[in-house]
Amino acid sequence: MTDIHVKPELRAAEGFAQAIDTINALNPDFVISGGDNVFDALQASYGRADSLYFLYDSLSKRFEMPLYNTIGNHEVFGLYQADGIDPSHEFYGKKMYEERIGDRYYSFDYKHWHFIILDGIGFTPDRKYVGVIDSLQMEWLKADLEAHKDKPVAVSTHIPLLSVGQQIFGKPTSAFSPSEIIINAKEVRELMEHYNVKLVLQGHLHMLEDILYNGIHYVTGGAVCARWWLGPRNGMEEGFLKIDVSGDTFRCQYIDYAWDANGV
Ligand SMILES: [Fe+2]
Repeated sequence: MTDIHVKPELRAAEGFAQAIDTINALNPDFVISGGDNVFDALQASYGRADSLYFLYDSLSKRFEMPLYNTIGNHEVFGLYQADGIDPSHEFYGKKMYEERIGDRYYSFDYKHWHFIILDGIGFTPDRKYVGVIDSLQMEWLKADLEAHKDKPVAVSTHIPLLSVGQQIFGKPTSAFSPSEIIINAKEVRELMEHYNVKLVLQGHLHMLEDILYNGIHYVTGGAVCARWWLGPRNGMEEGFLKIDVSGDTFRCQYIDYAWDANGV
């Protein structure tokens, strides 16, 4: 599941709870969140950001199976407040995420698969976010892939490595901005292609797509909040991906958990 954007407004907490109940009924082995769990720490005061993290954490306890989180841009605290939150603040930037949710990037095994969760969020000097897998993480990723080359691998990143979003929703000639796509995606893709990566789970764009390139599926998983809790987005309902794995193969299905935003 990706792009929940939970907040007290627009019945978002109720919607997220309905998504969780639907997931519990499907009874998957575990859940991966693709990021943008909260809306929004980028511009929020400390008190508001703290309450959003609390809301996400308390609703997440409803999951009856393990939850593995991915960091999204909206989890970053204070970046957009050059006149409000100083970088010396103890929870500035990704520190709030690390303190409240956990590691920004990590990996784990489940049965014969290996799962890698990446932090694809970088900052510019003028306090904007940009999609990037930084050099330290690239080194870690290479070592982690090397150590697990006998297993099929699935990767989660909030900002996509590959997408046709601009060609679909912009013009056929449009390009992504650096905040919409991983700017060093070519380097990351070429590294992954040397190993046994089968699937990249992506969020951020609130769209549904599945691109197969050089043996890797790049799947952008819609959005739990669809159009930020205002209803379907470009015909796409509020939903999440159910992924059935068999051997080295998998099947993705978008599950509409039947949220109706009309009561807003
Ligand atoms: Fe989002």
